[in-house]
Amino acid sequence: MKILLVEDSRSVAVVMAARLASFGYDVVLAENGQIALEKFQESAPDLVLMDIEMPVMDGFEATNRIRKIEAATAAWTPIIFLTASHTHENLITAIEAGGDDFLAKNWPESILQAKMKAMTRINTLRQRLAENLEQLTETNRNLADTQNQLLQSQTMASVGQLAAGVAHEINTPVGFVNSNFGSLQRQVDDLLRVIGAYEAADADLAAHPERLAAIMAAKKAADLDFLREDIVTLMSESRAGLARVAKIVSNLKDFSQVDSADWQFVKLEAGLDSTLEVVASEIKSKAEVKKEYAGLPDVECMAAQINQVFAKLLVNAAQAIEGRGAITLRTGFDEREAWVEIEDTGKGIPPENMKRIFDPFFSTLPVGQGTGMGLSLAYSIARGHHGRIEVKSVVGQGSIFRLTLPRRRPEQ
Ligand SMILES: Nc1ncnc2c1ncn2[C@@H]1O[C@H](COP(=O)(O)OP(=O)(O)OP(=O)(O)O)[C@@H](O)[C@H]1O
Ligand SMILES: [Mg+2]
Repeated sequence: MKILLVEDSRSVAVVMAARLASFGYDVVLAENGQIALEKFQESAPDLVLMDIEMPVMDGFEATNRIRKIEAATAAWTPIIFLTASHTHENLITAIEAGGDDFLAKNWPESILQAKMKAMTRINTLRQRLAENLEQLTETNRNLADTQNQLLQSQTMASVGQLAAGVAHEINTPVGFVNSNFGSLQRQVDDLLRVIGAYEAADADLAAHPERLAAIMAAKKAADLDFLREDIVTLMSESRAGLARVAKIVSNLKDFSQVDSADWQFVKLEAGLDSTLEVVASEIKSKAEVKKEYAGLPDVECMAAQINQVFAKLLVNAAQAIEGRGAITLRTGFDEREAWVEIEDTGKGIPPENMKRIFDPFFSTLPVGQGTGMGLSLAYSIARGHHGRIEVKSVVGQGSIFRLTLPRRRPEQ
């Protein structure tokens, strides 16, 4: 235990220091308040014995300053005032100045030792309290994390239900509008053919100039030439729009069917290969695909869903690449888990987007191109498998998405 002894009288200080040393304490000496402050910071004592009346800076002022230094760090060092006269008034002043106790200079050793014991005890308690506080803070942080995750999965669950409902409701009208559109397209083509046939007869109407004039006027009013071209564009744009709606609905359905399917032991690398085939058209023009397979053991999962995750991650990787780049497929495993990594040399994800990429409907693709459902679907599939998706990304360099799955389906 280290004691800072602050005492202006050299002779008193030497005697006291010798006595303290004889009890086994390390003693640091300071002859006034100013020096005491320096030594306090230098030597970090466990206890301060502080004289009151001193030149340069008195004990009360020094104590005050020590308390200020400590306030910044939440530390606390017991300070006992030393005084010649043992009055109540002195005691009160000492404590109000930020001291903890008060000791007459002619103290009997037993009293000093008892007081030291008390101070040590208080200090131990303080330290324990600080440790507990740290633990509590840590626990609190963990709780906040868990709460976030819960909130996230709750959101996912309710979005899943919502998605199922919406998909179900939209599916039927989209179905009949789509099939009506097919008929409409044929019928419009027929109508245009009939009009064409009539037009061929225009020349024969010379004998009926008033009828011809009426037909010409009607054609002009309808802007028939423009209409012929525009109708084709309108139809094809509308069908494309409808196809998009159908795709969203099918995404929503996939999304909501996250916990229905068969669990099987499958070869993830083979699944990755076949998924790559399915999305090849979106990848080929963007990236060279490299494979670094570790030879995964069979993993118990719902293969169709996992392939969906691969598809979403592969397409995202291709979409992130501006110009031409590379996509690396990497796998690995340990006793418990297997993982599949899809790395791209794309534009990366800015930190401010990182938190949101798994949110449903979050997309940075140009308007009309992304539904923003890809990663939220992937996320909920991973969760449904008691797995996880981790992301590393550097803006301007690329991203790595890693899907980790338990090799066996955990017991329910
Ligand atoms: N590999 C990646 N590199 C860079 N950004 C990515 C990558 N993968 C996802 N992102 C970012 O996350 C966003 C959300 O991805 P998500 O797959 O959920 O939706 P999307 O790709 O925008 O649309 P959708 O998949 O429905 O067509 C993307 O818009 C993009 O900003
Ligand atoms: Mg996507």
